[in-house]
Amino acid sequence: MNPKIKEIKEQLEQFRVEAGEHLEQFRLQFLSKKSDLQQLLGEIKEVTPDLRKEFGQAVNNLKQYAQELYEMHKNRVENEATVFNSEIDVTRPATLYSLGAMHPVSIVMNEVCEIFEKIGFSSVSGPDIEDDWHVFSALNFPLEHPARDMQDTFFVNVNPEFLLRTHTSSLQVRTMESCPPPIRVICPGRVYRNETITARSHCIFHQVEGLYIANEVSFAEMKQVLLFFAQEMFGTDTKIRLRPSYFPFTEPSAEMDIECKICGGKGCNVCKQSGWVEILGCGMVDPNVLDNCGINSKEYSGYAFGMGIERMAMLKYKINDIRLFFENDVRFLGQFANA
Ligand code: PHE
Repeated sequence: MNPKIKEIKEQLEQFRVEAGEHLEQFRLQFLSKKSDLQQLLGEIKEVTPDLRKEFGQAVNNLKQYAQELYEMHKNRVENEATVFNSEIDVTRPATLYSLGAMHPVSIVMNEVCEIFEKIGFSSVSGPDIEDDWHVFSALNFPLEHPARDMQDTFFVNVNPEFLLRTHTSSLQVRTMESCPPPIRVICPGRVYRNETITARSHCIFHQVEGLYIANEVSFAEMKQVLLFFAQEMFGTDTKIRLRPSYFPFTEPSAEMDIECKICGGKGCNVCKQSGWVEILGCGMVDPNVLDNCGINSKEYSGYAFGMGIERMAMLKYKINDIRLFFENDVRFLGQFANA
């Protein structure tokens, strides 16, 4: 490259334009009639014809470059002038948007799932709108059986064969129908019951249910897994107790209580003075259910359990009204941001 062109190019690139007066200096130095660049342009016609084309092109490119730089500096200087001289105070610190928070139900649901995932359970999901088979019939609720009243149901108007699932046990049925044992799954999801809304019950809530099917599964194994869960969830000193109960799909069935975290077992309003609060239902899967779902009950056995997540969150965060979870009041929801 011609040394003069190189020199001017370097000067162009080093020139700092920080204010209007620098812009004028730039124009005088590179674009005015008296500038070195203009002089070079005048020299083109004096160059020998064999070199003229190349030289001419290089000088013209340089001129175009200088012009572009000038426009760029000019735009910038003018913009800055309007921003800094306007009514807007650009130096004022920005208002920070407040961050959203996880819903307490999601926090507790994730926590429950993580505990079971640690010991080999995988999570499955499925439809909220179910049919009678997956919610009731496969689970050993005969038609007209009073046990169906345990879970008041929302039916779909146009076709009452379809209903909103009353528990996520429907996912246990779907899993047994589609996967050969051994099965070790948890089923988190939203469930619906046609119940009056009060401080203690709601027509929508969330569950995590679990199912384990293999050869010779024992009640003792289930108890140990549930003890592990309770202690991971509520602290290593948590005590549990199992009470006999009834569910159509498990035999024997039980309900599990943990020692009341609020009064430490002494008795209070939350535990109705008993020192214990119920947190889940469980039992050995009834052989009829296995057979209904295509699993040979002579070869396999298993246990199942199911818990309400709102109830768990109420115990964990000492919340006394289930309706708060569904009102979407940000003052309530914001409290769990760092939980
Ligand atoms: N499905 C039961 C309910 O919703 C809970 C449960 C699940 C009980 C599995 C026993 C075994 O109440």
